[in-house]
Amino acid sequence: MIKDFNIPQRTIMTPGPVEINPKVLQAMSNRMLGQFDPAFLKIMDENQEMMRPIFGTKSANTLAVDGTSRSGIEAALIGLIEPGDKVFIPAYGRFAYLLAEIAERAQAEVVMMEKEWDAPFEQADIIAKIKEVQPKIVAMIHGETANGQLQSLDEVGAYCQSQGIFFLVDCVATYAGIEFKMDDWGVNVAIAGTQKCVSVPTGLSLVAFDDKAKEFYLSRYQKERGIRTEDDPTNDRHISSNYLDMSQLIHYWGPDRINHHTEVSALNYGLHTGLRLILEEGLENVFQRHRLNNDAIVAGVQAMGLEIFGNLDTKMNTVTPILIPEGIDPNAVTDFLLEQFGVEIAGSFGPLFGKIWRIGNMGHSSRRENVLQVLSALEATLIHFDAPINKGEAVQAALDIYLNHAS
Ligand SMILES: Cc1ncc(COP(=O)(O)O)c(C=O)c1O
Repeated sequence: MIKDFNIPQRTIMTPGPVEINPKVLQAMSNRMLGQFDPAFLKIMDENQEMMRPIFGTKSANTLAVDGTSRSGIEAALIGLIEPGDKVFIPAYGRFAYLLAEIAERAQAEVVMMEKEWDAPFEQADIIAKIKEVQPKIVAMIHGETANGQLQSLDEVGAYCQSQGIFFLVDCVATYAGIEFKMDDWGVNVAIAGTQKCVSVPTGLSLVAFDDKAKEFYLSRYQKERGIRTEDDPTNDRHISSNYLDMSQLIHYWGPDRINHHTEVSALNYGLHTGLRLILEEGLENVFQRHRLNNDAIVAGVQAMGLEIFGNLDTKMNTVTPILIPEGIDPNAVTDFLLEQFGVEIAGSFGPLFGKIWRIGNMGHSSRRENVLQVLSALEATLIHFDAPINKGEAVQAALDIYLNHAS
């Protein structure tokens, strides 16, 4: 007979999913509410409200798409794309290719600008290319999780605004960990997830959009068959997906609450608590906590004599990519960390597969005790595998950061 499962104790220092605050888990175990129960609608409304400051927007247009982050990305993108539309995507890491994949499947004409994954673009280079390509949409990644690099967006956003080009940004790896200023940077649509710095389990994607994007989505609205009456017009330009139809989602999350899917109650309870905890801590304090823990991770890794991949000036605070020393088996190290210490770190993808490990520093996992634990466990593991590292220095270097910060 199958026995009850056992969830082992873990210290999760990957770039997501991360550890969940027990208060979020507690909130998620609350009793069920019907999806149109006013008590539940209030939770949805408040979730929409609490998402906004973290996106850096005053726009009233925020909602959650049920599904992992890519559900929100897909909904946001395919709602803007009509067949043949030109979408320009600068890629300095893996997730730009996800945007391209989604846009291509939505029959866009995708134009990419590619570079090595060790640094983001100069914004001037992106703008020069936008002038040449003249796209309808520019889609970009704020923080590339696969290589830990962060892209500045303000000049690109300002240029897109001046030209009436839609600017869509994936801030999945930065939302609630690193400042994001949707309004100031001229971003029309931004998408985040829950499993990284929001510290809520996967399953919801958070989307914010300005009035221009809202108007465009709604211009493609067609009420679903089965609830449509003779008075409801059909729309030749309706969005091809039903589940990821932003125009229907806007009506579902809006005051008219037109029935679409059945909203996930437990995740909305968790999201409410997750967002509230972030706002209670204070956004600037949250960013500062990530900054400090990042400094400690970097100091510890460098004290071991390990090299950090990519440009340090543009490295995200939420991910530290470490070059794997020659002759060391990447998987043997991550397996040993998990089996012996219950500590999880990650590898990477594409050209960085087998070349780097990534230590995440996100949300509820971004805590001093986790940082000290991952550094001591990594050091002991590398010593076990005879890697040429400086012994006994990593934790001291990280402690120095914390103690100097406190004094
Ligand atoms: C920057 C970025 N975008 C998109 C995704 C896709 O997210 P999900 O796995 O939640 O669909 C990820 C996942 O790690 C990510 O880091």
